[in-house]
Amino acid sequence: MADVDFHLECIDCGARYDPNQVIYTCSRCSGLLSVEYNFSSLPEDLDQTWKKRTLSVWRYRELLPIGRIENKVSLGEGGTSLNECLRLSEEIGLKNLYVKNEGENPTGSFKDRGMTVGVTKAVELGMTKVACASTGNTSASLAAYAARAGIECIVLIPSGKVAFGKLTQAIIHGAKVIQIRGNFDEALRIVRKICHSHPIYLLNSLNPFRLEGQKTAAFEIRDQLDGRIPNKIVVPVGNAGNISALWKGFVELRELGLTDKAPQMIGIQAEGAAPIADSLKKKLRRVRFVDNPETVATAIRIGSPVNWKKAVRAVKESQGLVEKVSDAEILEAQKLLAQQEGLFVEPASAASIAGLIKLTRMGVIGKDELVVCILTGHGLKDPNIILRRCPRPIEVEASEDAVINVIMPEEKQAVKIAGS
Ligand code: F0G
Repeated sequence: MADVDFHLECIDCGARYDPNQVIYTCSRCSGLLSVEYNFSSLPEDLDQTWKKRTLSVWRYRELLPIGRIENKVSLGEGGTSLNECLRLSEEIGLKNLYVKNEGENPTGSFKDRGMTVGVTKAVELGMTKVACASTGNTSASLAAYAARAGIECIVLIPSGKVAFGKLTQAIIHGAKVIQIRGNFDEALRIVRKICHSHPIYLLNSLNPFRLEGQKTAAFEIRDQLDGRIPNKIVVPVGNAGNISALWKGFVELRELGLTDKAPQMIGIQAEGAAPIADSLKKKLRRVRFVDNPETVATAIRIGSPVNWKKAVRAVKESQGLVEKVSDAEILEAQKLLAQQEGLFVEPASAASIAGLIKLTRMGVIGKDELVVCILTGHGLKDPNIILRRCPRPIEVEASEDAVINVIMPEEKQAVKIAGS
């Protein structure tokens, strides 16, 4: 049995549901569901218990909604580095900047945190088929975890808009990859309908169990900072699941009495796909969706984020905000991070750095604040964008002279003069 009692709860009307049924949204009001725990059933020395285990998603198993932990479908997810960025800090004028490198996860993105829990849940529920719509990373991750579990995987992706590396991942893991002539939002609408009427388990971030896995990044950040809680968390936003999951993690730490602080949640969207940033700026009560989202950061090319309500709540409760950045700012931030810190991330990840730079310049992020940016995916997933923008390697004859001539043309001259 699980160590803790939990149930599913509608975030709008509060209706409760048995967590051992296949359900994604409230059957009374269609609201989003959230996993809620009865904390009083938890052991008192939780923090000590956690510290004895290695840093990973499953270190926090008492707060994961899984019946039998022995049955977990795992590839060794979580436990990613929290890198202090001294050179980047200096460049942009901050003193306490860290990045959480989620590209270190088994399939190269933060999605693995959610999939280890989501696919374990699928198996627990007796499902033999799983599916998702994806801009790339979700499909790569689901395909890998489904392979690990020995179950069938179906992924719907927007044709021509998924980075090459991610597509190859889904294919090699044996998923049935279906490209639709449409965007991510349309793919999600279709797969939701199919999963509703067929015995196929939906593993988009609408699935509340997946977000439980993703919240563990918040727990890890607190542990890696020796109990300190950042002033600000900066995270790229697409379907808006991750920002909601991270906030849930920080709220639970506070509810458990493990901290009395909470960070401000700062979401970053790409200019051409910024429904939440735009709607919050206009003070709209509901998020107005974008019909034809477009950005170089294909991972967050999303116009109708399903988790907008959770995300807006996270931002409001934490007194945070959602900002948008241009494609040029994203690509510049990607290069800066690679060249100042040695970290190669995909464009969507770099959106958090671009947002950080913009908000620091605007004075929204203060010099002395403790800031953690979430780097969501590895750069190797989307190499084409680099090859299109950066200088190509120089080709020369296979001789020492030819190479020296490229490395230090003046020096070669000097050697010649000295020897002549
Ligand atoms: N960064 C990367 C690298 C992503 O792949 C995604 C989402 C996000 C940020 C945004 O996270 O959706 O929780 O707000 N990718 C999804 C996918 C949509 O299908 O791979 P979010």
